[in-house]
Amino acid sequence: MKRDLISMLDVKDDLDDIIDRGIDLKRRAKSGINIELLKGKTLGMIFEKSSTRTRVSFETGMTKLGGHAIFLSTNDLQLGRGESIEDTALVLSRYVDIIMYRAKSNRAMKELAHHATVPVISGLDDKEHPCQVITDLMTIKEHKGTLKGLHLVYLGDGKNNMAHSYLLGCAVTGMNITIVAPKKYWPEAFFVNQAKKFGITIKITDLVKDSTREADVVATDTWVSMGDEEQKQQRLQDFKDYTIDDTLMKGAKSDAIFLHCLPAYYGYEVTKEVAHGKQSVIFDEAENRMWAQIAIMVTLLT
Ligand code: CP
Ligand code: NVA
Repeated sequence: MKRDLISMLDVKDDLDDIIDRGIDLKRRAKSGINIELLKGKTLGMIFEKSSTRTRVSFETGMTKLGGHAIFLSTNDLQLGRGESIEDTALVLSRYVDIIMYRAKSNRAMKELAHHATVPVISGLDDKEHPCQVITDLMTIKEHKGTLKGLHLVYLGDGKNNMAHSYLLGCAVTGMNITIVAPKKYWPEAFFVNQAKKFGITIKITDLVKDSTREADVVATDTWVSMGDEEQKQQRLQDFKDYTIDDTLMKGAKSDAIFLHCLPAYYGYEVTKEVAHGKQSVIFDEAENRMWAQIAIMVTLLT
């Protein structure tokens, strides 16, 4: 039976193992040990939206594993001219060993995964961004040594793919989470209800002041996700009080770290001082996309 990674719930039974595997493979590769665990394997990467990190980290990750990756933009694929998702999935499954898909919709993601006969990994859709949150948890574990019992405070768009995956990722690893967002951007009930089942403390509020007080980790994401561009002016207005600045960062625990999946828009969701400041680990986080995805691909293919 092939295994997909579309939602954080798909790794609810082995998320800790995947994180530890990412940390271990990173250490081994950096000390010169061969990690060519997927020699001869091919990854097909379908992109319906732009990317810097996802593309480069998957491609270089597959190279480190001894395999090969193919970049497939929907502008170039027949998919972009009306070939069905079903046929695309069935055809690609005859060539490649594993597919990464960055999709406009979770519906399309699920359809591709349903028809593909090889594992499908989400490189983000409108509901979740599991590879990024697995990466973020790996980065927190590297810096804090543990996950269980820590408190993550996320400010910004609480209804986007990052917020939803954070809710589930914190739930699975036993971290408590606070989401600070204007009411109309609170997470979808499905993700809150799923997260509640794991027994963590979840707080959702629109009060920015003092919101970071309990934070071991402070996180944010763009206020205007890919696909939300038409709402940009409205969103800049709605989120104007939610910028993570020095005051909010100083309000967190003194050893708190700052995360952002990037790309960042300085002066909006975070100031450059915080993002490039001494508590920020955003470039470790960006690097870890590669190591976490190496662990994910090895887990799904072996
Ligand atoms: N964080 C992230 O997914 O970045 P890209 O959009 O550059 O892939
Ligand atoms: N929420 C953002 C994440 C980008 C990596 C988006 O979907 O555009």
